[in-house]
Amino acid sequence: MDIEALIKNYVEQGYVLIPEVFCHVPSFNDLLDEGAEPFYEQDQSTLRSLYGFHNNPQFTAWIEKQRLLCEITQRILGDQVYLHQTKVNIKNQQESSVWPFHRDFPFWKVFDYFPENCFLNAVVYLDDVHEGSGELEVIPGSHREFLDREANEHTDYSLEGSASSDLLFSFSEEEKSYFQHKYGLEKTTGPKGSLLLFDPNLIHGSGVSYRDFSRKIMILTFNACSNLPSNDSPRPVYLCNTDRTPIAWKN
Ligand code: SIN
Ligand code: MN
Repeated sequence: MDIEALIKNYVEQGYVLIPEVFCHVPSFNDLLDEGAEPFYEQDQSTLRSLYGFHNNPQFTAWIEKQRLLCEITQRILGDQVYLHQTKVNIKNQQESSVWPFHRDFPFWKVFDYFPENCFLNAVVYLDDVHEGSGELEVIPGSHREFLDREANEHTDYSLEGSASSDLLFSFSEEEKSYFQHKYGLEKTTGPKGSLLLFDPNLIHGSGVSYRDFSRKIMILTFNACSNLPSNDSPRPVYLCNTDRTPIAWKN
């Protein structure tokens, strides 16, 4: 694999998709233990996301063996890393299943007090992701351009606003059209076992699916161990992990 080319793409476009790179991915049922935090759709019964499984034994056994993630995170972030956030997102046909277009870093900056974007999102496809199944859509290159209003953005923390379709820090239709017109919009479809890396300042979002429980993607957010917050986050540890022990990668 040409890691140099991948990194170049990641830096320039803000994302890179590597199809079918994992022959084995964690089983969703294994992640569903009592340590993980489920989030439901507005109907309060349909599973939307599962957060905070970074200490799940099956998950840690899997991640420690991922030499590609070890190399990429260390090359891009230039440091040892830990997992700031782990989640699996699921899709269904309900309107509340959408993720409005947004960047991720403002959440970590404003609520978790991290001054620098030394983060990286790695999305591992636990299912095949088809067009229409609620695939993640990204605006290439948008990680480099910010609207004036974003510079002083401040908003009060709410749990709902961090994980639901009423998402804080999202863009209006007009703002999304501005970026989309300028940079385009890409759909990140791919088979189970694919890997999508994206910069947490990249604008991204997703719609509903044509069927329920359609595509499970596991989003792993790495932070450089040297990137410390300036204060304590009000958010629960499944949204802002306070255990910053570096991942013990195996050879
Ligand atoms: C996210 O923005 O964190 C997730 C979006 C998705 O699952 O489609
Ligand atoms: Mn996001």
